[in-house]
Amino acid sequence: MKTIIKNGRVIDPAQNIDAILDVVISAGCIESIAAQVQPAADDQVIDATGLLITPGLVDIHVHLRDPGYEYKEDIVSGTRAAAAGGFTSVACMPNTNPSNDNKAITRYMIQKAELEGYANVFPICSITKGQQGDSLVEMGDLKLAGCVGFSDDGLNVEDGAMLRHAMEYAQGFDMPIIAHSEDESIKDGGVMNEGPLSTELGLTGNPWVSEAASVARDIMLAELTGARLHICHISSKRTVELVREAKQRGVRVTCEVTPHHFTLTEEAVRGYEVNAKVGPPLRTAADVAAMKEGLRDGTIDAIATDHAPHHIDDKNMEFVYAAFGMIGLETALPLSLRLVDEGVLSLNEVIACLSCKPANVLRIPRGTLIAGAVADIALINLEHTWEVTRQSIRSRSFNTPFEQQSMKGKAVMTLRAGRVVHKEI
Ligand code: DOR
Ligand code: ZN
Repeated sequence: MKTIIKNGRVIDPAQNIDAILDVVISAGCIESIAAQVQPAADDQVIDATGLLITPGLVDIHVHLRDPGYEYKEDIVSGTRAAAAGGFTSVACMPNTNPSNDNKAITRYMIQKAELEGYANVFPICSITKGQQGDSLVEMGDLKLAGCVGFSDDGLNVEDGAMLRHAMEYAQGFDMPIIAHSEDESIKDGGVMNEGPLSTELGLTGNPWVSEAASVARDIMLAELTGARLHICHISSKRTVELVREAKQRGVRVTCEVTPHHFTLTEEAVRGYEVNAKVGPPLRTAADVAAMKEGLRDGTIDAIATDHAPHHIDDKNMEFVYAAFGMIGLETALPLSLRLVDEGVLSLNEVIACLSCKPANVLRIPRGTLIAGAVADIALINLEHTWEVTRQSIRSRSFNTPFEQQSMKGKAVMTLRAGRVVHKEI
């Protein structure tokens, strides 16, 4: 028995396909993409008339909080949210408890996702043991266990020599270093973007220099070592310029932007809105414009959510004390689709930034519908409007500044290896 998804608009940027076609799935893999396929009597047919058929989306930056912080999220609830957002693969950050710096936890994550999850989980291991910045993890072992990159995300690797050595080892194992680039000494405890608004609100500021200075260092260390460097959640205009210039000089650097950093400015923090407290901070309109320009000219490789679930007890307090982060898996697609309406990216480019391009950054064998690939697929209704409410969100946490906002665009069916893992049609 095969599954045939019929009459949808197939968009697969990796193969330059954008046409009304049928997708044939056999034994969990893509068998073919063709026009007007005739189903056999025992084939399952899914009617995708009026829908996009895209590769299952790939998010290379999520926090699943499992093990250790399951009251915020776990692998089941987090991958359930992913599937509802159209994502079939997520790369999860190691700031769990204990942190993912060893094979046992890496394997636990992969196996739990395989057995109970709704999406594939590709673990990112820490760079330093316990993310303490003192000693490097066993990179070779972790690669064998299934890890796809190394990051101390949430924290900068402050010690330049440590990062240099991490890059040298990572380069030897052909693995990327994924940098949370914020110089802690320049950040100096800042809780929002530094500028007139932080002064007005009486909050300590984190200037764009904390990010840009650290990114400049990281790029130069990548240049020195030849390592592959991926920079997380860029937020400032100056950072985009640094990455653009480094790429022109042939440095092996890639970067990502979150939907919140290309959608919101620091104004979202007004009223001491704790759900807009995020690291790096939301910045100015000029920075948002630079993110869009970076997406437009390809300097920014991928859209990634930095899905950072937090329990209300970690957020419901004075702004300075509240945790950094917001959820993003279920709002990423509609927020990214706004870029099409604004003329920043074409629809195909948005899908590329959410599928094959992030997959390529981490060399995850996903993000395309090419024959033989695992049948991870999203069916998207571009016209479906919905409201962000506690009831409409699957994540265990609900820390989002988009609460009660209207979203346009929804994954109405998600398939993982040919099996339906999310359905609302
Ligand atoms: O806002 C953030 N939250 N930024 C990070 O880098 C870490 C994340 C978290 O783990 O909550
Ligand atoms: Zn993160």
